[in-house]
Amino acid sequence: MRILDYIKIFQKYTNSFLFVDNCESLNENIRLKQKHSLRVFKNASDIAKSINADDKFLFIAQLCGLFHDIGRFEQFSKYKTFKDDESIYHGALGVEVMQKERFLKNETQETQNIVFDAIYNHGLIDIERKNKASLLFSKITRDADKIDIFKIVAKYYREPGPRNIALEYGLENSDYISDIVLDNFYQEKMIDKKDLKTLNDFKLMQIAWIFDLNFEYTKNIISEKSYLNAVVCSMNIPETKWIYDKINQSLAKGLAASG
Ligand SMILES: [Fe+2]
Repeated sequence: MRILDYIKIFQKYTNSFLFVDNCESLNENIRLKQKHSLRVFKNASDIAKSINADDKFLFIAQLCGLFHDIGRFEQFSKYKTFKDDESIYHGALGVEVMQKERFLKNETQETQNIVFDAIYNHGLIDIERKNKASLLFSKITRDADKIDIFKIVAKYYREPGPRNIALEYGLENSDYISDIVLDNFYQEKMIDKKDLKTLNDFKLMQIAWIFDLNFEYTKNIISEKSYLNAVVCSMNIPETKWIYDKINQSLAKGLAASG
């Protein structure tokens, strides 16, 4: 099967979650995840091409990007939220969905396992399934996802308009930032969602993802598009300049090996 066949399978499955009762706000959430998945598919392709992938590698990277959030649809339909800590980890649910629906039944078991690992790993603080065959694909998927999330949040903070509680994780918009969050950021560590108390904490958690990027391609695109400037600008705190410096240093720092 070609990648276009899989895009059709993805669309057919995810369209089945559009609610028949015309509830636009619920449908909108499903559509957002459909569009996000297709952009992550494209980002994963571009990252794979940037490391001179062959056709087979490119195809698997595309499958990982396309299906990485497949668990989001069942998650939203069951729990009406995308918050994993209030429902279920969507990466684990995604693997279950892939196995139940047998979308990849025409691919080898090895390819299936790689895609399952990438889906499982993509939303964790750290990669857990470190199989030799799948590790690079997990890294591609994580970077591809982050590029799109940065794009979405940059657009959100650049354009004045109604606030979207889902994009702000429902957190209070105060000038306060938690010590543990600042501390982790200073040490270039990932920030755990359980430590978030304010919207500034949440923004810094997203910015800290730059310490966990795996490919030059990703760093370059985030720098080029200045995705993080808009986020930092929207934080009314004295540490802004220091955060900018950390971002620029990290994006300018070369990677030991792109995968
Ligand atoms: Fe995603």
